[in-house]
Amino acid sequence: MTGSLEPRPLHGQRLLVCVGGGIAAYKSLELVRRLRDAGAEVQVAMTDGAQQFVTTLSFQALSGHPVRTSLWDSAAEAAMGHIELARWADRIVVAPATADLLARLAHGFANDLVTTLCLATTAPITVAPAMNHRMWQHPATAANLAVLRERGVQIIGPEDGPLAEGESGPGRLSEPGDIVATLAGGHAATAAARDLAGMRVVVSAGPTYEDLDPVRYLGNRSSGKMGFAVAASAARRGAEVVLVAGPVHLPTPAGVSRVDVRSAAQMREAVLAALPADIYIGAAAVADYAPRVAVPNKIKKTGEKLELDLVRTPDILAEVAAQTQALKLVVGFAAETENVEHYARGKLKAKRLDMIIANRVGIAEGGFESDQNALTAYWKDGEREFASAPKTRLADALMDLIVERLNA
Ligand code: C5P
Repeated sequence: MTGSLEPRPLHGQRLLVCVGGGIAAYKSLELVRRLRDAGAEVQVAMTDGAQQFVTTLSFQALSGHPVRTSLWDSAAEAAMGHIELARWADRIVVAPATADLLARLAHGFANDLVTTLCLATTAPITVAPAMNHRMWQHPATAANLAVLRERGVQIIGPEDGPLAEGESGPGRLSEPGDIVATLAGGHAATAAARDLAGMRVVVSAGPTYEDLDPVRYLGNRSSGKMGFAVAASAARRGAEVVLVAGPVHLPTPAGVSRVDVRSAAQMREAVLAALPADIYIGAAAVADYAPRVAVPNKIKKTGEKLELDLVRTPDILAEVAAQTQALKLVVGFAAETENVEHYARGKLKAKRLDMIIANRVGIAEGGFESDQNALTAYWKDGEREFASAPKTRLADALMDLIVERLNA
């Protein structure tokens, strides 16, 4: 196939790629190449840190332009001043955006070329963060990101998965192909669209703990990751999101208001208090049974056997679906180990849901504690499979489907 037959969705766009100082900088080489393949004209600016990982020469060869690294380079300034470069760009793409760079951008620093360009431009800015997962999950980074998002900065990624330092978690730079697709208005771009603006979305996530006595409880292995990712995705699309979270140690996604609860009864109360809403997504693994009474003192070892007196907990999801204030969409999750479709469809009907999202738990890959998952969504007259992917990416794809069903 000749080059002219390839789709060139970024044809004529002038993109300024600002490369931050992280190991993911090597992926930005591929990004520049792909942006040019997509028809964009690309210039590159690098921070001092970025030059520790990749050379200016590589970016120069790939972009076809000299690379800018300093505010104090008189020859480069004579050819094209930094203000001129900031004005030249139709969009600035910061990739990788390190925690430090996000902080400096959020606070309006102009202490190097890249931050000065970002401050001096009136063009839209996209950031593709990449960093260690603990840095990504730090409240300082979350707050900086919230500021940038509020300011209209487009945020792509990061992805969940193995990180350079041998750990795993959210913090990987999005794949260059995904970044290009987003910039070109592909799938991920719809996730960045504010198509849930004006909607109130309530999400439940995580396990519940049902106290037996002051030191023991009945719990389950839900990590809360899926529900948190769904809440984050809905907030990115402009929804007002209330996240009712069971006991989990996860940072609150940007733009989400969180209510922490422990038991199914507390979760029910918090969910009902968060209504009315347009959408309810019940991603929590609510205990089905709770002790009839939580005894005030530690249960003593007595006989050979101990029988627990458990009673059914209220079905929060079914109760939300039966609200007189009709929600536009009520979505449940079903964790199944066998006959997935049969049981999921049964719950869809019995609980009068608009959609149920089934996942197979108890398999080696995916499920409760994993960062990865494979899901199938069922609704009255349809279904959609979601192949195994990081939960953050799945959440965006699920929100795409939820928006689709909302408008169906
Ligand atoms: O019936 P099952 O517990 O498998 O259904 C799972 C779905 O129902 C999940 O969406 C879960 O959040 C919701 N649920 C609930 N209240 C319960 C039990 C489950 O909201 N007591």
